[in-house]
Amino acid sequence: MKKIALTGIKPTGDLHIGNYFGAIKPALALTAEYDARYFIADYHALNTMKDSRELNSTIRQVAAGWLASGLDPEKVIFYRQSSIPEVFELTTMLMAFTSKGLMNRAHAYKAVVQENNEKGGDPDAGVNMGLFTYPVLMAADIILFDSDVVPVGKDQVQHIEMAQDIAQSINANYGQQILKAPQAAVQESVAVVPGLDGRKMSKSYGNTIPLFAPEKTLRKTIMRIVTNSQAVEEPKDPDTSQIFLLYKLFANAEEQNALAARYRTGGMGWGEAKEELFRVVNRELAPVRERFEAIMADIPALDKILAQGAEKARPIAAATVKRFRKAAGID
Ligand code: TRP
Repeated sequence: MKKIALTGIKPTGDLHIGNYFGAIKPALALTAEYDARYFIADYHALNTMKDSRELNSTIRQVAAGWLASGLDPEKVIFYRQSSIPEVFELTTMLMAFTSKGLMNRAHAYKAVVQENNEKGGDPDAGVNMGLFTYPVLMAADIILFDSDVVPVGKDQVQHIEMAQDIAQSINANYGQQILKAPQAAVQESVAVVPGLDGRKMSKSYGNTIPLFAPEKTLRKTIMRIVTNSQAVEEPKDPDTSQIFLLYKLFANAEEQNALAARYRTGGMGWGEAKEELFRVVNRELAPVRERFEAIMADIPALDKILAQGAEKARPIAAATVKRFRKAAGID
């Protein structure tokens, strides 16, 4: 039997090429080897997103983005967290085994408290219980589906370790293996995608290249990449140029060698390098963008795909809850 890989996708903000290379592609690569269960973590997003129209639309955009990037809903169980009531039943059960102290140590919560303390206000200002208990909901997402591995970024590793702790303490309490303890799968080899300003591409830095922008916007965004003031004729170093680092993600070896040679010889201005970057980015993204637009043009069909995923997910979820309730004496 194949091992189970599960990951949650928080639907916040438009997808950008940092998400594409850092999360989407690596997770899709795992689907050949693993039984994959990928879901839209819409209740996690509710903690921070209180604008209903925006949340409603990002849920669809992010789901459509993964499908357009190649997620095959016949092979991957693809669903919305909010469609699986067992997630919330399991969350309540896990709460009984999760110490408050464990939550106090969660990085995301601690960061907010620290910031509040620095400002000298109420340490818990702006902290809702959804943020405080975020790791328990996430543990329920994971444990519910008997996950073996959870592909995530480094920032999420602590959450997976908490899920492990919680599962193990429940198994220890009942003296039997009721819940599977998951492992984080951090993809070290995944390239850090540089943003327009050279820092890591991130929504919070506002330096992203959007995945599904129309061709014109994509070109304009690429033209905004920050460069130094070297003149056209000067030889340039490809390895310290974020244009070139981005180029490497999209170009084949021959193209990379050719562009690197032009950098080193001199005679090529930054504008020209950006045009060449735009050419290869658009070559890869144009078909993805077309699929995305087609999916977004038929939201009922998209919702049906997600509902069918939820139908496949629910029996698995129900079995875990049933097993746990029985062990706990609530059957
Ligand atoms: N917290 C994750 C993030 O912000 C999203 C998430 C929610 C998740 N539930 C999960 C990831 C379960 C992995 C497994 O990216």
